Amino acid sequence: MLVVGSLNMDQVVRVPHLPALGETLLGAGSLKLVPGGKGANQAVAIARLGAEVTIAGRVGTDPFGDRLLKALQAAQIDTGQIVLDEQEASGVAFIFLAPDGNNSIVVAAGANMRLGQDQAQLERIFAEIRTAKALVLQLEIPLETVKLLTSVAHEAHIPVILNLAPAQPLPQATLQQVSVLVLNETEASLLSGQRVDSTEDARIVATVLHEHGIASVVITLGARGAILVTTDESGKPHSIYQEAPKVKVVDTTAAGDCFVGALAVALTEGQTPEEALRFAVYASALKVTRFGAQSGLPTREEVIAAYY
Ligand code: ADP
Ligand code: NA
Repeated sequence: MLVVGSLNMDQVVRVPHLPALGETLLGAGSLKLVPGGKGANQAVAIARLGAEVTIAGRVGTDPFGDRLLKALQAAQIDTGQIVLDEQEASGVAFIFLAPDGNNSIVVAAGANMRLGQDQAQLERIFAEIRTAKALVLQLEIPLETVKLLTSVAHEAHIPVILNLAPAQPLPQATLQQVSVLVLNETEASLLSGQRVDSTEDARIVATVLHEHGIASVVITLGARGAILVTTDESGKPHSIYQEAPKVKVVDTTAAGDCFVGALAVALTEGQTPEEALRFAVYASALKVTRFGAQSGLPTREEVIAAYY
């Protein structure tokens, strides 16, 4: 499987409260560096869940780039399609965490936003797409690149699993080339212009998106699980709801990334939409019981031991 996407170093500091304009906060916690970025997180999820995965992306020549690469290699991910960018810094996210659970985040996307400007890298990605089982994309790289790669995969009959995160509008022509679109409630609401506050709202919105030509649409519903709308054997739209198991929530970071990775693994293995949805909901429910983005992602054995 091929993931093309972002790599970020999350720089996390616990603070007594979020700083006000012009305020200098002393006595904050010490800096924690946590490898992240949706592309990298999804690649790690896929690897932990037992599938072979290559990631394509860009990092800077700074020490963060090196650490981001090493984290992926430690997870058995092929990093041969990651380019060291001589001009831009590695992507970073500055995250302030307050005791009440609120946070402030600033992302400096850096090298991630140059994915697509380097023709030699693009050519290698095109070649990799044509032999991949599936292409997994998110929206932390330039939209033009997402559109281009989707069309290349579609032409080569390679399924595209697109996670519409962070939410941005995409042209209908691109959405129609996607095999599986995965969105959370906020993203579904932004894309459709409809409120998505309940499972029933999500079913309606997913059905509308499917009727506009997206083969399968999945809306994740946090603690309520997820809903999938696809075409059944008779050619009619068909919705499947999977409830989430009740869990003790420790850290919801990367729950969506875990979901996308698990769904991609299950579908490319030939599991049915029902089975794949269940696997993705179970894997991501287990993720939220554990601390950390990449470090909290479960293995296949752990998911099976917990829920099967
Ligand atoms: P995102 O993290 O992208 O905002 P969601 O909040 O919808 O997306 O979470 C993605 C998936 O993670 C859900 O579909 C669900 O399977 C799982 N999940 C998230 N929060 C919980 C929770 N509190 N309890 C159980 N599962 C959860
Ligand atoms: Na959420």
